[in-house]
Amino acid sequence: MYRAPRGTSDILPEEQAYWRHIEQKVVNVCHLYGYERIDTPTFEDTRLFSRSIGEGTDIVEKEMYTFEDKGGNQLTLRPEGTAPVCRAYLEHGMHNLPQPVKLYYMAPIFRYERPQAGRYREHYQFGYEAYGDGAPTLDAEVIDMAWQFFSSLNLHRLSLNLNSIGCRKCRPGYLATLKDYYSKYAQGLCSDCKVRLERNPLRLLDCKQPLCQEVASSAPRSINYLCPECDEHFNRLQGYLKLLELPFEVNHRLVRGLDYYTRTVFEIKPEAGGAQSTIGGGGRYDDLIEELGGKPTPAIGFAMGMERIALNLKKQGIAIPVLPRPRVFIAYIGDEARDEVVKLAARLRRAGIGAIGVVGGKSLKAQLRQANNFAASYTVIVGEQEVRTNTVVLRDMVTSEQITIPTGELQGRLNTGLR
Ligand code: HAM
Repeated sequence: MYRAPRGTSDILPEEQAYWRHIEQKVVNVCHLYGYERIDTPTFEDTRLFSRSIGEGTDIVEKEMYTFEDKGGNQLTLRPEGTAPVCRAYLEHGMHNLPQPVKLYYMAPIFRYERPQAGRYREHYQFGYEAYGDGAPTLDAEVIDMAWQFFSSLNLHRLSLNLNSIGCRKCRPGYLATLKDYYSKYAQGLCSDCKVRLERNPLRLLDCKQPLCQEVASSAPRSINYLCPECDEHFNRLQGYLKLLELPFEVNHRLVRGLDYYTRTVFEIKPEAGGAQSTIGGGGRYDDLIEELGGKPTPAIGFAMGMERIALNLKKQGIAIPVLPRPRVFIAYIGDEARDEVVKLAARLRRAGIGAIGVVGGKSLKAQLRQANNFAASYTVIVGEQEVRTNTVVLRDMVTSEQITIPTGELQGRLNTGLR
């Protein structure tokens, strides 16, 4: 027996209501904030990702699904959505459009991680990116959009963590101070952190090991080392977030797992969440477009895991709309009637009335049982007598009342009855 590969899953029909509900809210919120949809290929040139996410990151070092195709091209299944959208922005000359250009996506993401609850090797992300506006008002709007999206899903009890990690002007000074501080504790750090100390000191702050966490808690804070421009940006952003009444918290250990960020970084998680609980994260990446060969273009974005959203909807017991199903079941008795119900079912569907029926050799009793299983509101029954008199029996499945009506009246009756 084959099974879905480890860390992947099927989204079965009973799960689909959550996904369609989330998607519908995505479309609504994107419309409200002026984002247009973009879909990019499932795989891209490997260098696009190593260049943008960063060589020393877990994603690039350990998690990418990279392969060589038959033409010898090095390709990678999308391990995140931002770099492909940047590539598309550049490739299609979107800097010529009125800025900011605002784009969103919903797409599968592939990371070779150790699977556990809420962490998969294939997951879906809803993300959005805005290009060409460096003002902190846009940061506030991007954060507000995330918050409103969760509110529209009735997801509450969330926390919003915020930090600024500076820019290429002020970050080197901060990193030097951070390294200095950590060097004193180098002996006691976990093996990963020993490597981080050399290669990616910012990530030291993010380590989950208890001893490393202790060191991190008293580490120098990036916000105390910002240049005047970054400092002003961060202060103004906090002012706007207060204006919008968003309950944020500055978390000096929030650094994110991708290297392209500048200035603002933020994450949203459930108040009572563990390590794998972050629902979404994002931030500014003002240098990335230039690093990928474009003109200097400020940018900011956010992405969230759709599985984690669905998980939280379930955890918080939030009711979601059921997906529409056919509410009319068509049953028949006898061969002659079968031809009639084949036509009847087709006629109802063409008139926009969902209809299902068993065109097999089942007894009427079995067919009615099936109508119940499908939770049909009405069953239309056609037997030899009905064929001869051009009528149908209409059975209300809730009250079990049955009436015989001319076939020509069926559509009208169902239209009123199903409303
Ligand atoms: P990220 O934090 O790596 O950011 O991923 C965004 C979200 O995707 C996470 O907060 C989490 O909900 C979900 N996620 C990540 N990995 C997994 C996994 N293995 N299984 C299930 N869910 C997962 C980014 O990818 C950036 N591109 C976000 C961004 C957009 N920054 C700027 N614009």
